Amino acid sequence: MSYFKDKVIAITGGSDGIGKAMVEFFIEKGAKVATCGRNYDKLYQLELSHSNVLLHTLTCDVSKESDCKRFIESTLKTFGKIDILINNAGISMRALFNETSPDVLKTVMDINFWGAVYCTKFALPSILENKGTIVGISSIAGYRGLPGRSGYSASKFALQGWMEALRTELLHSDVNVMWICPGFTASNIRNTALNTKGQAQGESPMDEGAMMKAETVARLTAEAIEKRERTVVMTFTGKRTVFMNRFFPSLADKLVYKFFFRNGQLTK
Ligand SMILES: NC(=O)c1ccc[n+]([C@@H]2O[C@H](COP(=O)([O-])OP(=O)(O)OC[C@H]3O[C@@H](n4cnc5c(N)ncnc54)[C@H](OP(=O)(O)O)[C@@H]3O)[C@@H](O)[C@H]2O)c1
Repeated sequence: MSYFKDKVIAITGGSDGIGKAMVEFFIEKGAKVATCGRNYDKLYQLELSHSNVLLHTLTCDVSKESDCKRFIESTLKTFGKIDILINNAGISMRALFNETSPDVLKTVMDINFWGAVYCTKFALPSILENKGTIVGISSIAGYRGLPGRSGYSASKFALQGWMEALRTELLHSDVNVMWICPGFTASNIRNTALNTKGQAQGESPMDEGAMMKAETVARLTAEAIEKRERTVVMTFTGKRTVFMNRFFPSLADKLVYKFFFRNGQLTK
């Protein structure tokens, strides 16, 4: 029998990309899944393909504490408990700091960091009761600051630091706290990334076809949850970046610059 059978899993940002792939994966494994996003139509489309016995959705903006409270409370009301919370909802940015209002960085922090804090705060009593798992979908940008994504990197560093502290606080509680770092994954995230004006850039500057599939991220995340791992860096490039940055940080500066810039212009 699947480890996830009859488990209740709350996934933020399940209407697209990696979150949507996780919703599909866990329902297929027999879990009951609750998810949220800001766009009602996308959630409605998701609902159409699943029974409401297995899927609960709610329109919610995770940057708002009251929305996170509604999401978690409605999940508890619908399914009676939460075993696993996956803090996945996220947004990125593509804007050099010197040309960008701090408001852009604040928007990214509010969603990627505070959204995870709020949802975890409200879900924690049930997760403690059920000896469950709290997952953060982080990024290599949480280990290595990436140009054009200063607010995104800040949000993922903050997420990991907070989760590491929480993991330690809960070490003897039977709750596992873990964070996952996918590699570049084909999704909507580069289209919605905020530009210097705080607007979605509306296109991906990278070859989405050459990236990891969201379904692979979902499967590897599920395996890590089942094994109660601490952290997962999913790709070789990711592992190499973490290693280089730890032991050769000045060289890492040059290599990262070379990857993201061409003739002094940010190209990725
Ligand atoms: N794709 C990658 O290359 C990559 C790599 C490493 C890590 N990640 C991380 O993976 C996670 C998922 O990203 P993705 O690539 O799947 O992006 P995506 O395709 O853009 O999906 C993002 C999901 O989050 C939701 N969301 C965004 N802002 C929200 C908010 N304020 N409140 C509630 N939901 C919100 C979106 O729905 P609405 O727009 O309807 O709200 C959508 O369902 C993120 O945390 C990201 O940082 C992605």
